[in-house]
Amino acid sequence: MKGASILITRKIPEAGLEVLRASGADLTILQEDEQQGVPRTLLLDGVRNCDVVLSLLTESLDREVLSVNPRLAGVATMAVGFNNIDVAAATDLGVPVTNTPGVLTQSTADLTWALILAVARRLPEAHNYMAGGLYRIWGPNLFLGADVSPGGSGQRKVLGVIGYGRIGQEVAKRAIGFDMDVLAYDPFYQDGVEASPHARWAELKDLLQTSDFVTLHPLLTPETHHLIGMEQLRMMKPTSYLINTSRGPVVDERELVRALSEGWIAGAGLDVFEDEPQMAPGLAELPNAVLLPHIASASRDTRGMMANIAATNALAHLRREPAPNVVNPEVYEADAYRERMRGAD
Ligand code: GLV
Repeated sequence: MKGASILITRKIPEAGLEVLRASGADLTILQEDEQQGVPRTLLLDGVRNCDVVLSLLTESLDREVLSVNPRLAGVATMAVGFNNIDVAAATDLGVPVTNTPGVLTQSTADLTWALILAVARRLPEAHNYMAGGLYRIWGPNLFLGADVSPGGSGQRKVLGVIGYGRIGQEVAKRAIGFDMDVLAYDPFYQDGVEASPHARWAELKDLLQTSDFVTLHPLLTPETHHLIGMEQLRMMKPTSYLINTSRGPVVDERELVRALSEGWIAGAGLDVFEDEPQMAPGLAELPNAVLLPHIASASRDTRGMMANIAATNALAHLRREPAPNVVNPEVYEADAYRERMRGAD
């Protein structure tokens, strides 16, 4: 594919770069510094001058950006979530958009469980205590937390899964080993379908009122923005924990800070934030919040696979072939797409 050009907004793992290099296309990486974002003017210029964009979840590919290049043959994002891309605008403009579903399901479910255990058993606080040289003697009251499995009381705990797609289901599966009961809420899948052999559907209110651990796995859409706000946090038990490895804006983070500091709930484990990399005022100071820098899919193997799939998707866009993992398949039937392809010939 000599002469064709792929814009990579920020550096991706080698497993993806290798695939792209082998294609012979010209590659431009807009931002090599892994600690920096891509300035908007650079992004607009880059998109204007390429055939395909391979982007990360940190770039906003809105209508303006997608409109600057009538030659643009597709966008491949290296993520499963694509709320940073205006997919409706892409479809209007005839631009196919792809993501990388599937390969990160297990890593994300694992990290969700790491957060459940870390917040319930107060691991970061205990680690800091050890690392700070404060441990003097074993204590019967030292760092008491909550059981995830029935523990000494023998009482089964309830895991509430909100958003019961691939990742939510994988999180629920892991609860079997902890002898938990699982409730699931998902308006997209709920109707007429069994949740799974080890979970049962619940209404949102019931799930919030009953669960000991509430874990969030919906896509971010206008309907799920602030799905968890003051009212929902108030419905949870003061002994319950909220876990979020989906997207920050699913939770009203300022209300969450109130909930955590005023004891409406017991704790939170968060991998995502409303306005990343910023956090709501007060969140970082709370001992009952475990905070991670959006690393749910960050295992070497999974990130390598995500890069590989994003690269494969990008090359399909470049060849003007229907791409695997397209999130707007209707685009291929659209006049705008046909016109765009004619323009590219
Ligand atoms: C990560 O958050 C992703 O959407 O892949």
